[in-house]
Amino acid sequence: MSIEVDLIVHGAGQLLTLAGHGPCSGQAMSDLGIIADGAVAIAEGRIVATGTSAEIRSHYRASHTWDAAGRVVLPGFVDAHTHLVFAGSREDEFEHRIAGATYLEIMAAGGGIMSTVRATRAASLAQLIEEAQPRLARMLAHGTTTAEAKTGYGLTTADELKCLEAIHLLNSSQPVELVPTFLGAHALPEEYRDRAEAYIDLIVDEMLLAVCQKHYSLPGNGSPRALPFCDVFCDEGAFDLQQTERILKAAKALGMPLKVHADEFAHLGAARLAAKLGAVSADHLLRTPAEEIAAMATAGVIGVLLPGTPFGLGQHEYADARTMISAGLPVALGTDLNPGTCYCESMPLMMALACRFMKMTPAEAIVASTVNAAYAIGRGTDLGRLQPGFVADLLILAVDDYRHLAYRFGTNLVQTVIKRGNVVSTASST
Ligand code: NIG
Ligand code: FE
Repeated sequence: MSIEVDLIVHGAGQLLTLAGHGPCSGQAMSDLGIIADGAVAIAEGRIVATGTSAEIRSHYRASHTWDAAGRVVLPGFVDAHTHLVFAGSREDEFEHRIAGATYLEIMAAGGGIMSTVRATRAASLAQLIEEAQPRLARMLAHGTTTAEAKTGYGLTTADELKCLEAIHLLNSSQPVELVPTFLGAHALPEEYRDRAEAYIDLIVDEMLLAVCQKHYSLPGNGSPRALPFCDVFCDEGAFDLQQTERILKAAKALGMPLKVHADEFAHLGAARLAAKLGAVSADHLLRTPAEEIAAMATAGVIGVLLPGTPFGLGQHEYADARTMISAGLPVALGTDLNPGTCYCESMPLMMALACRFMKMTPAEAIVASTVNAAYAIGRGTDLGRLQPGFVADLLILAVDDYRHLAYRFGTNLVQTVIKRGNVVSTASST
């Protein structure tokens, strides 16, 4: 007697299950749990079973079946770090950087993040949503089924709440699932110039509470729903270590899970702080010393690496992924999608960069973009693996060997995207 399910995807030349438990570190980052001629049985948006096509066919039947025709099937990508919601773009700064200006110089002159803040404040909620939608469509087409999404271009209580609401509405109106992060400490707003402590008071005394209240007031966000993450851009030209600690401690006291932008440009000690406060992730990590990497590994912090950012800035230094993996730190990848340093929606391009400039292997890049990225956004127990009980987010590639994902670049090898058991994107010809 076979069991009835909703969908069976069969005939995967390589089914990358990534089966296991917990975030992957060290040697476990190389284990993709591949089943040759694999299949997946799906019911009510979740995975019921994986096995060979013959095994699944003999135990399950479904009204819908999908033939992967010998190609690679793997979990949908989780983009662990995006600044999805913003208005406008900054192609003028891109030209200035080509001519020799640095990112920090442009920021100090009132451009950079603040120029997007001005545009985002001027935009309506509807306009922010409209501008983010095509980005989400590109993310989905390139295989991202879940993404973290930060506020951080509002920097007033009302404008930060507007960005949070945009994330919430976008989450329920298209297939890419969004996990929100409050990044009120993204830049010191110009009206607080030379009054940094007053802005931090505003974050700690007003914004954090408003964010938590807003979160629970949004439809569908009952009390069991996790609060948004709280993140701080701890760097030269942004917030120092002491300010970062004050904000993150206040957020933690409210029950918010923590993230931090650490060591993107300068080493200020934010990775050690992430370990001390039990942050879920520390992101960027371009200049993080070995002792702080070890502290993160011991504390269970995920290292989120964003190779699109140095690439986008035309820089030649990348995070030291090999040292991190050797130290037992679980490494995840994200795009850092934003209008300044990395206007890119593609996780496969991040994998291509991770392999070339951080010497990760294609298998490690896949683990970093699925299992470990899911852990970096607090969703590791139901996303990022193809195993019973996990959400049925799957990709079918146009190729029969997973290494093509990082080996090739600049064209989209994602052919079919399945989100919660539904086919949500198909490429007509690849
Ligand atoms: O992660 N570091 C801060 N935030 C972004 C850049 C944002 C911007 O330039 O608009 C980043 O690189
Ligand atoms: Fe960022």
